[in-house]
Amino acid sequence: MGVMVVLMLPLLLLGISGLLFIYQEVSRLWSKSAVQNKVVVITDAISELGKECAQVFHTGGARLVLCGKNWEKLENLHDSLISVADPSKTFTPKMVLLDLSDISCVQDVAKEVLDCYGCVDILINNASMKVKEPAHKISLELDQNIMNANYLGPITLTKVLLPNMISRRTGQIVLVNSIQGKFGLPFRTAYAASKHAALGFFDCLRAEVEEYDVVVSTVSPTFIRSHRVYPEQGNWDASIWKFFFRKLAPGVHPAEVAEEVMRTVRRKKQEVLMANAIPKAALYVRTFFPEFFFAVVACGVKEKLSVLGEG
Ligand SMILES: NC(=O)c1ccc[n+]([C@@H]2O[C@H](COP(=O)([O-])OP(=O)(O)OC[C@H]3O[C@@H](n4cnc5c(N)ncnc54)[C@H](OP(=O)(O)O)[C@@H]3O)[C@@H](O)[C@H]2O)c1
Repeated sequence: MGVMVVLMLPLLLLGISGLLFIYQEVSRLWSKSAVQNKVVVITDAISELGKECAQVFHTGGARLVLCGKNWEKLENLHDSLISVADPSKTFTPKMVLLDLSDISCVQDVAKEVLDCYGCVDILINNASMKVKEPAHKISLELDQNIMNANYLGPITLTKVLLPNMISRRTGQIVLVNSIQGKFGLPFRTAYAASKHAALGFFDCLRAEVEEYDVVVSTVSPTFIRSHRVYPEQGNWDASIWKFFFRKLAPGVHPAEVAEEVMRTVRRKKQEVLMANAIPKAALYVRTFFPEFFFAVVACGVKEKLSVLGEG
């Protein structure tokens, strides 16, 4: 009996990690079939998250269009993608210079992609111009640039590509947003406003295009960290560590968000919130007890200002 109890825990852990490993492998194969040969446009592909998404979709066999505003960084990304993937199972990505805050450039890029491929199957809107300053210190020009890059740019691209998706009665538009599209935090006025606007637009659009079998998805992470806190994928014991660390660590690695974007595409999910318990609770408090939420947030600002004052 005693020996059985001692053996129980390792056997249980082994069983769970084995199941997680099998699940991971099946998901990987399933993801591959969902994007193989599909034309996938990724905006801001040179951001941390954009690069990870490019990696996941490229190895999945998608025909990628990498958009970004820096040609050298696009070339680096292109080279790193083709150097690791099997060329017989992947397509050479197309690179396109795109400044999302330049609306006429966005329209030209959308037409260029349609002329080149004839369609777009999946559009990943991943705009990320950020600023963290008190509202009165942000110029109106910067407010406008952020709104263009994070809201007007993505919706312009979507609007140009949408008629083609509607006529083909297929397509998916993914908006990478932020929890700050659901509630605002101090010193993030322009960013939060642009993310609220984008979420509002795509929530409305979802219902409009459903009858044409076009799927609109939003993926909202809280905080994306730049380092991994668990072992690399691929071995069975990594799965169990990954499972536990994912639950405990604050924020997510861009690779995890990219995996979630792939899952969202594969399962045609409508809304994903990548948050652990605290931001989720904050969202409920914001919805059901707004005055309490505003008071807590205001306290945080006073504390921060007093620390800055003492400094
Ligand atoms: N980081 C987080 O904690 C976090 C949290 C929640 C949600 N998100 C969301 O996740 C997505 C990716 O964010 P990230 O943190 O991975 O980004 P990031 O690494 O901070 O990269 C930002 C990228 O955006 C580019 N960019 C800025 N303005 C642009 C414009 N007008 N047109 C085209 N590109 C432009 C920048 O190019 P330059 O360097 O050349 O300026 C840079 O490559 C965004 O949608 C963001 O809102 C991020």
